[in-house]
Amino acid sequence: MGHTILVTGASGYIGSHTCACLLEAGWQVIGIDNLSNSSARAIGRIEQITDRALPFQAIDVRDHTALTKLLQREPISAVIHFAGLKAVGESVTRPLDYYDNNLCGSVSLLRALHQQGVRKLVFSSSATVYGDPATVPVAEDAPTGATNPYGRSKLMVEQVLADLAQADPEWRIATLRYFNPAGAHESGLIGEDPRGVPNNLMPYIAQVAAGRRPHLAVFGDDYPTADGTGVRDYIHVSDLARGHLAALERLFRVSGSFTVNLGTGQGASVLQAVAAFERACGRSIPTRTAPRRPGDVATCYASPARAAELLDWRAQRDLAQMCADHWRWQQMNPDGY
Ligand SMILES: NC(=O)c1ccc[n+]([C@@H]2O[C@H](COP(=O)([O-])OP(=O)(O)OC[C@H]3O[C@@H](n4cnc5c(N)ncnc54)[C@H](O)[C@@H]3O)[C@@H](O)[C@H]2O)c1
Repeated sequence: MGHTILVTGASGYIGSHTCACLLEAGWQVIGIDNLSNSSARAIGRIEQITDRALPFQAIDVRDHTALTKLLQREPISAVIHFAGLKAVGESVTRPLDYYDNNLCGSVSLLRALHQQGVRKLVFSSSATVYGDPATVPVAEDAPTGATNPYGRSKLMVEQVLADLAQADPEWRIATLRYFNPAGAHESGLIGEDPRGVPNNLMPYIAQVAAGRRPHLAVFGDDYPTADGTGVRDYIHVSDLARGHLAALERLFRVSGSFTVNLGTGQGASVLQAVAAFERACGRSIPTRTAPRRPGDVATCYASPARAAELLDWRAQRDLAQMCADHWRWQQMNPDGY
């Protein structure tokens, strides 16, 4: 304890919840973000929740000079790297932006860390790296094969990290493959604040429930699943945040690097998620069936066994809790931050 952790993407959805979790657990945290997909107001909310200071700077991870200055000034012992772009569809139309931000941004950060002697990193990867899994639940040794530039940018960073750990065993790297983050902080003060049309299911459902959108498009109702709609492993963002804490604690305890899934191990279909949200908000969510989207898979959920074994971490919150917390956030912040 007493270590200072640098969090990139600190004002973003998962970054903000993780900062809150770290501060509550007594760590010192410094946040950076280029604010391309978030609001600096999130930082004030985290301070309000935790009653602790969160020093923050608007820095782009591709800005090597600014990163180096920060690392020279602050006693940073480890980094949690969330900063990046995450919209699968957008990555297909703007691949260069995704490789520049996600791949070049990560290499820029790693180079600055390496030069300044910081050798502990937690990296945000994604279940997207599994592509269309042959079997579920998906374990970490399942074949990888992303189907879009976003997923490939994550896989490439994973490869860079593996090469770095191989070249210099002083590095301790935790690669966390998230399944489908959902929900919000129980206080209702921080949550997902998408710009424009939400890419993820739960913020979209919430905006329909709030009357901001007329209906939810359900992409495909003829998948080989119980009700024909796609099945995913929704994981509460506060459980994810705790997963980062557990990964960090392991990096300080044990040498070596590891990759773990962060998921619940339970799948829920789109229609089950809609029904759960309807129960949470007491309103009905109109849906319309739309054609399948290219690249979407029928069923994907995690094997959480390795995370339990290595990190003693398990998801604690269920889909009902995710919906209730997301709805609270939506109602308290109808227009986001
Ligand atoms: N939310 C998901 O569904 C999901 C699933 C799997 C993995 N991930 C990964 O987790 C990480 C965090 O995701 P999130 O949902 O919190 O997204 P988010 O967009 O809310 O947060 C990412 C943050 O990074 C910032 N950012 C982007 N490019 C930057 C740059 N070059 N320099 C500095 N800051 C930059 C954005 O402004 C944003 O605040 C991302 O790397 C994402 O790919 C997210």
